[in-house]
Amino acid sequence: MEILRTNAEMSRWRDECYRKKQTVGFVPTMGYLHRGHLALVEEALRRADQVVVSIFVNPTQFSPGEDLDQYPRDFERDLDLCRELGVHAIFAPEVEEMYPAGFQTRVLVDRVTQNLCGLHRPGHFDGVALVVTKLFCAIHPHLAVMGEKDFQQLVVVKRLSKDLNLGVEIIPHPTVRESDGLAMSSRNTYLSKEERQSALSLYRSLLAVREMVKEGERRVEVLIDRAKAIIEAEPHCKIQYVHVVDEDTMADIAEVTPMAVMAMAVFVGKARLIDNMRLWPG
Ligand code: PAJ
Repeated sequence: MEILRTNAEMSRWRDECYRKKQTVGFVPTMGYLHRGHLALVEEALRRADQVVVSIFVNPTQFSPGEDLDQYPRDFERDLDLCRELGVHAIFAPEVEEMYPAGFQTRVLVDRVTQNLCGLHRPGHFDGVALVVTKLFCAIHPHLAVMGEKDFQQLVVVKRLSKDLNLGVEIIPHPTVRESDGLAMSSRNTYLSKEERQSALSLYRSLLAVREMVKEGERRVEVLIDRAKAIIEAEPHCKIQYVHVVDEDTMADIAEVTPMAVMAMAVFVGKARLIDNMRLWPG
């Protein structure tokens, strides 16, 4: 497994793959890998001849006061996990390599960033769009595998790849959960034992709401009230938002359709957790 530190090294590795007519699969991450990340890597390994995983905690997608400094890191463990799976290359640039002095270009994706996390983390998706565009340009992968856990991010990246003709096929991967339903996240390490128990209410509320839809409820307002009540009944939980949106536009909807996704962000202790689920039965 090659460990590449600069854009130039990255491009040379990619050129070599292209020369050998090998397809390149890419999994962008911020490291501290868990089974959710590894499932994306396995999917990439199934679909492409060569797989590169990026490990880069991207400062431009964190707002002041967020957890950039505390974000968990364990580079050596990440390398071991990737090596075991048969990953071909790791791209792990320093911050100065990605954002050298004088850097001043931005990538703004418009409408799909307006709601949900875009509303509550101003600038967040500008940072995501910027770093993903830079990574796609450095790597030129044929495909990138990304998780539905970060549903809005997936929509944003699909949009920018299309709008900027980056030519990267975005492969969505379902959310990987712990056996009790908690969506895997690097930020779960922030949870105490009791907080982790409370955090299960996110998944429970999504399941409850989907059940109501199955039984015929279509009024989004009623569904949101139910989800909020389930989460608010737990100690340590502070809801940031619960919305039901159209999965293409990310706009709020009032009635459940086959495109309806419930998406939520909840502070559990100091951890900000997100989760989502399609609501249409079947
Ligand atoms: P990170 O949070 O490390 O996530 C990397 C990828 O793993 C994303 O595509 C995310 O959706 C996916 N992922 C995380 N938890 C998952 C889970 N439980 N099940 C399935 N997939 C999961 O998302 C980022 O990093 C960054 O914003 C990044 C795209 C790398 C840009 O900096």
